[in-house]
Amino acid sequence: MSLLTDLEWRYATKKMNGEKVPQEKLDYILEAARMAPSSSGLQQYKVIVVSDKALLERIRLVAYDQSQITDCSHLLIFAAWDGYTDERVTKVFNYMMDERGLPHETMNAYKQVILDLYERSGQEWQAHHAAKQSYISFAMAIAAAAEQKVDATPIEGFLPDKLDELLNLKGSGYKSTVILPLGYREPGQDWLVNMKKVRTPKELFVTEMTLADACSSVDLPKPMTLDSFAQKAD
Ligand SMILES: Cc1cc2nc3c(=O)[nH]c(=O)nc-3n(C[C@H](O)[C@H](O)[C@H](O)COP(=O)(O)O)c2cc1C
Repeated sequence: MSLLTDLEWRYATKKMNGEKVPQEKLDYILEAARMAPSSSGLQQYKVIVVSDKALLERIRLVAYDQSQITDCSHLLIFAAWDGYTDERVTKVFNYMMDERGLPHETMNAYKQVILDLYERSGQEWQAHHAAKQSYISFAMAIAAAAEQKVDATPIEGFLPDKLDELLNLKGSGYKSTVILPLGYREPGQDWLVNMKKVRTPKELFVTEMTLADACSSVDLPKPMTLDSFAQKAD
């Protein structure tokens, strides 16, 4: 099976049948999510797994009553940092250096560059930036689920503030970004299951460019490193 065949097979399942996803398949999907790349390798997000039916019933109430929330086997909740702090970034970089057997100071200059950039960009930008990283992990989980023939529904249709309250995330430094019920389709009750998969035609989706198509009047900066960029970003 190729990745493309798996992606063709998957769809945003509207009705699930309540069947359990085996632990090894769940672990595989979570591992794919964990292996996702992230900006500066910070992994500024985490995944919360809920299979407790009573909690799922409550989550469904803050997710526009979408049935997949209670008919799934496991619900993955992606939650990202609400902002960048010296402490959070230092903790990750120190761990990275420990794992690689390098001194903590190795990352100091780079760390200062990104912290300066983040600070200048403001808290709202920071939370948004962290949330974007969580979507990369989310996409990996979706692809891995398809590979495991586990159905999944990407869901943004929920009230993040209410969900954060329900999951006791308030004050934790994390905000929920997107959720992913995992389970198995109930074809007889799913209006989407036999619908054609529709995507933008390739010729409209992919654009090839050469220098001839590019703007020739851009005032390009001299080549610079991230270091010097950080100093000039004001
Ligand atoms: C970020 C994101 C949020 C989505 N939110 C919902 C949702 O709240 N409920 C739902 O039923 N589908 C949701 N979808 C599913 C999309 O509608 C679906 O992926 C899209 O129409 C393409 O169809 P396919 O996934 O079946 O190929 C969401 C998809 C993404 C990527």
